Amino acid sequence: MAKLSDPISVIAHQLKNPIAIVREYLEILKSEGMGQLNAKQLDYLNDAVKNIDQMKEIISDLLDVSKVEGGVYKIKKAPTDLIKITEQIIEEFKILAKSFNCEIVFEKSDKLPLALTDSEKIREVIENLIFNALRYKNVGAGRIEIKIHKKENNVIFSCKDRGVGIPNSDSKKIFSKFFRTSKALQIDPTGTGLGLYINKAIVKMSGGRIWFKNNKDKGATFYFSLPIAK
Ligand SMILES: Nc1ncnc2c1ncn2[C@@H]1O[C@H](COP(=O)(O)OP(=O)(O)OP(=O)(O)O)[C@@H](O)[C@H]1O
Ligand SMILES: [Mg+2]
Repeated sequence: MAKLSDPISVIAHQLKNPIAIVREYLEILKSEGMGQLNAKQLDYLNDAVKNIDQMKEIISDLLDVSKVEGGVYKIKKAPTDLIKITEQIIEEFKILAKSFNCEIVFEKSDKLPLALTDSEKIREVIENLIFNALRYKNVGAGRIEIKIHKKENNVIFSCKDRGVGIPNSDSKKIFSKFFRTSKALQIDPTGTGLGLYINKAIVKMSGGRIWFKNNKDKGATFYFSLPIAK
């Protein structure tokens, strides 16, 4: 239960219903249930839905943060096929990657054991890492390399990009809530800086670790490890 001392989570919680209602009305209009639309009207509605969805995500992230801080964030651990989840995400990101002029390459190891984690939550982690790699890319064609391999009793996921990288002076703050580098703020002002903070909580609760390294040439590689499901 949200405490009154945590106004952000109270407000976030109260915004959930009105946002769901606005989205519902927009969907009705979009389906032309209230009359036929011209191309421009449809365009505006699609844009409105996109922005409502973005608001929904911010609210859900804020609620997750308050749960992490309140010690009530829960994950459901089960043997999880990281390869399958990653393949699905890459497929879902196909059109977006194209619009960013970015290729996503997935190098998977044979016979990778299942990892012990929450499949829905780890999906969020992988989505954020890939979306960050796309979002914080340099101008021109980009390339993202994803690898998953086994190391001792862990499965290691890595996502390497050729993007803007992270200044050394910011490296300690990158997993803090609301932190965004000045480059990220310039490239895309819409992020909230909550993704990696929540990702870290999910990975830690699964008994793993999350970290990053700047690449020698350009860009960064983000990693996480998870214990193998026995
Ligand atoms: N692959 C990357 N390359 C360069 N900078 C990155 C990369 N991934 C993360 N960052 C930096 O770390 C910051 C925090 O990332 P995080 O995913 O937590 O938040 P965000 O992407 O800004 O917003 P959101 O909450 O929507 O994910 C980013 O704003 C950016 O400055
Ligand atoms: Mg992010």
